[in-house]
Amino acid sequence: MDNVPSEETTGLAAVRRVDYSGDGLVESEVSDSPYAQARAWVDAAVAASHERADVPEPTALSVATVDADGAPNVRTVLMRFFDERGPGFVTNLESAKGVEISAEPRIAAALTWPSLYRAIRFRGTARLIGRDEVEAYFDSRPYGSRLSAWASDQSRPAPDRAALEAKWAEVLARFPEDGEQEVPVPDFWGGWRIECDEVEFWAGRRNRLHDRIVFTRTGAGDLADPSAWTMSRRQP
Ligand SMILES: Cc1cc2nc3c(=O)[nH]c(=O)nc-3n(C[C@H](O)[C@H](O)[C@H](O)COP(=O)(O)O)c2cc1C
Repeated sequence: MDNVPSEETTGLAAVRRVDYSGDGLVESEVSDSPYAQARAWVDAAVAASHERADVPEPTALSVATVDADGAPNVRTVLMRFFDERGPGFVTNLESAKGVEISAEPRIAAALTWPSLYRAIRFRGTARLIGRDEVEAYFDSRPYGSRLSAWASDQSRPAPDRAALEAKWAEVLARFPEDGEQEVPVPDFWGGWRIECDEVEFWAGRRNRLHDRIVFTRTGAGDLADPSAWTMSRRQP
């Protein structure tokens, strides 16, 4: 392998160097709103995930928050909602991310599709998703996923694996699959949608001369309203 930095220099076993040969993104081809552009890329990634093995989780969304001291935190969730209001995800509202967002709703997130040489970055403010939407979504989840919402005090310490499994058994007994009682949405479970102020589209190209097209909010309006956004290019 030519021109691969040595493990001695990087502390990493030789990582294959990939020259990104994506289609790129030029201004003349960008949609007139961040929603239309993101919709096209999200749909393409989801379609690709059905056809090839290297786009395994096309809606995996890295979500960055800050804690009360301003220290950043990041984790991956699944984007469960996407419309002109912004990308949304569901989680335990009392988790670390939940506590952080409640104190500081400014948030950033990224969808990354390495094999498609594409990424979308969102920056904005987290808004709680309405209970009606959360309930409708929760009811569409498989039984096991509905139970797991009850089984985990997400982000709180756990003494060991056995304690998690004991809690699972307790929840299973409380809400048996063929029982009378529906599995309700826990009060502590819900979601946030990111009301965006900036959306960046990154398209990897040869020799690291990538395209970065950014929509910046310059007026009121949702992601699908072209008059609310100004488009510009950033250096890679
Ligand atoms: C691919 C992937 C998808 C995930 N999806 C979710 C999700 O939709 N919601 C969620 O709360 N956690 C999800 N997780 C777990 C989170 O990354 C994280 O461990 C958890 O939400 C606790 O984060 P926090 O302690 O910062 O709140 C996912 C993890 C991975 C790797």
